[in-house]
Amino acid sequence: MTSTELHHQPFALTPQPSPGMIVKAEGCELITDSGRRILDAAGGAVVNNIGHGRAEVADAVAAAMRDVNYVVPLWPTPNRSALAQHLVERWLPEGFGQVFFAGGGSEANDTAMRLARMYHLSRGDTERHRVIGRVPSYHGSTLATLAIGGHMDRRDGFDPMLAEHPKAPWDSADAVAAAIEAAGPDTVSAFIAEPVIGAAGPGLVAPLDYWADVTRICKSYGVLMISDEVMTGFGRTGTKWGFEHDHWEPDIIVAAKGLTGGYAPLSMVAAHDHVVAPLAVAGKGVMFFTYSGHDSACAASLAVLEILEAEGLMERAASQGERLRHSLIDAIGTSPNVRSIRGRGLLLGVELDGVTSSAVVGAALERDVWIYPGGSGPAGADGLLFAPPMIVTDDEIDRIVAVTAEAIAAVA
Ligand SMILES: Cc1ncc(COP(=O)(O)O)c(C=O)c1O
Repeated sequence: MTSTELHHQPFALTPQPSPGMIVKAEGCELITDSGRRILDAAGGAVVNNIGHGRAEVADAVAAAMRDVNYVVPLWPTPNRSALAQHLVERWLPEGFGQVFFAGGGSEANDTAMRLARMYHLSRGDTERHRVIGRVPSYHGSTLATLAIGGHMDRRDGFDPMLAEHPKAPWDSADAVAAAIEAAGPDTVSAFIAEPVIGAAGPGLVAPLDYWADVTRICKSYGVLMISDEVMTGFGRTGTKWGFEHDHWEPDIIVAAKGLTGGYAPLSMVAAHDHVVAPLAVAGKGVMFFTYSGHDSACAASLAVLEILEAEGLMERAASQGERLRHSLIDAIGTSPNVRSIRGRGLLLGVELDGVTSSAVVGAALERDVWIYPGGSGPAGADGLLFAPPMIVTDDEIDRIVAVTAEAIAAVA
């Protein structure tokens, strides 16, 4: 067995062929031990935002780790406290005064489900526990987050282990109301949605009216709204949060990937004060994770957000996203193998027709470009997800687009 094979995830679903051992990463490129340079057109798994190899972040993590290594999440540490304050002051909407840290997106969405449940329990609404999800959608791979998600391939085989949570098609507000009615409004705790759908249906964006209608419906039934910003958060779509485009505001915000740009594992759940207040009165809360808000991960986040803000990368995600979108439309918009090109900022999806995403991603990787394969089996559109680091240059966009067109043609 070679060292490369040893490092392959042995139980991973739909593994992609390995390009070799990645020993370095800089800018928008991953570099293998044989010197091969792979253009990272997906920021890994829609994670990297500031580019790879920023020494300032490594220095911040090292300094933090020298001072404190592990401190139980209940107590303040310098970077943990500073990050919570920074998020409240600079990133979160008015009224969001509380942040809970976790390790990744699944843990954070699981926490959001528990927080919503505790909110209702604290108010004496003991029956409310169901979370309405959409099809397609992806909220994580723990058994709770698989259960609220609509990613059929990733749920496959686990159905007997998944609690039943109602589902609605991703673009129908009427279906959300019908799902609440069918479940029994007194049993529904929350509605969860990705503002731009990622892995399960690359780049899908619901019509503008959808969000106003769903907000009205959720409010009328006393159902909390959770925005899963694990992919869309921290400027990826050209605004701080994905929901801003559609002029609605959630009660709970979940974020992960862009929070540290992949430099450390960290996620967050932020809640509006009106959600947290009843818990405080009732003396209720949710259990933390051992690694909730590790100080060195918080140090990485602070350093990443400082770069993101100082270098105007959110604005760059908007402008380079438009460039990438138009280049894709010019190059492959009329291809018989492309059904649609959509998304926001630097989170763009290409829905495929007659070719599979795994084949196209494989062909692109042979040409040294990494694109994220999306789609979720029968319920979701098979396609490609583009989300390069926000520092992506014009030349790099040209290469991503040229290789995508070549890869589709080669597979077709
Ligand atoms: C929207 C969304 N939510 C949740 C998750 C799960 O995050 P993690 O893999 O960090 O557990 C993902 C991962 O891709 C995601 O895209």
